[in-house]
Amino acid sequence: MEERVQKAMFDYFRLEGQTAIVTGSGNGIGRATAILLADLGTQVMVCDIEEDSALKVAGEIGKRGGTAIAAKCDVASLEDIRMTVAKTVDSFGSVDILVNNAGGFGGGKTFDKMTYEEWDRLIRINLTGTYMFTNEVVPYMVKKQHGKICMVSSGAALGYDFSDPHYAASKAGMIGLAKELSQELAKHHINVNALGTGLTDTRMAHLPGRSWEDETKGLPWYRVGTPEDQACAIVFLVSEAAEYITGQVLCPNGGAWM
Ligand SMILES: NC(=O)c1ccc[n+]([C@@H]2O[C@H](COP(=O)([O-])OP(=O)(O)OC[C@H]3O[C@@H](n4cnc5c(N)ncnc54)[C@H](O)[C@@H]3O)[C@@H](O)[C@H]2O)c1
Repeated sequence: MEERVQKAMFDYFRLEGQTAIVTGSGNGIGRATAILLADLGTQVMVCDIEEDSALKVAGEIGKRGGTAIAAKCDVASLEDIRMTVAKTVDSFGSVDILVNNAGGFGGGKTFDKMTYEEWDRLIRINLTGTYMFTNEVVPYMVKKQHGKICMVSSGAALGYDFSDPHYAASKAGMIGLAKELSQELAKHHINVNALGTGLTDTRMAHLPGRSWEDETKGLPWYRVGTPEDQACAIVFLVSEAAEYITGQVLCPNGGAWM
């Protein structure tokens, strides 16, 4: 590779030696993000409520020559979050990148059918989990005066995409939190952005009774997103190339909305 090309890649997309935590990285978008970050030289904490899935992804990363550790972590549990952050810091020294990706879906409930318990559960995972994880990690970033945080939100938060009320509200909350934190944390050189994720081919998106064919027909790009499409956008947002981007929502959706 030419020196000029190498320099540009090194200056702007250099992730080597940094440490990332990707929540919910046992499957789907989180898995693709953990693998891509590790391929770019980042040390990754792969954590998920499904311990086996997290271990499997960390194993895959190891086989590809990357560095990863795994933890069972339910983002609804502050105790699990604290253990995961402590394990990351013990192993790698600090945290540079946090991808708040773990999330649950409401299962297609309408407002009139949703219960208080279902509301509380989803808000706890998607929004409170994001807040708690961010709160536990930010002190390490402040200490380094450097950090990148990405909230994996959804088109549902912006009034697009198939959704249910508690899911849309939790994902909109993640964007609000990203915008607010971007202002508070800029003085510490910590970027906080959100992903307005479009329809992506993962386990979560394959809901019973949902016609995948109908969903994809109207998409300008003639296909739904892949986990790798989302991972590329996330990796851009946590790279030095996005140094001047904060408080923004990036929407990888093949032009489905603008
Ligand atoms: N797939 C889509 O079309 C789409 C669209 C918009 C937003 N998103 C968002 O993308 C993120 C990733 O979802 P995905 O599509 O890859 O789905 P996925 O089901 O493939 O992956 C979600 C992962 O999160 C984990 N998880 C669930 N609850 C958790 C918890 N309490 N603690 C820790 N881990 C937990 C799951 O075990 C799973 O590994 C989610 O936040 C989702 O809301 C997805």
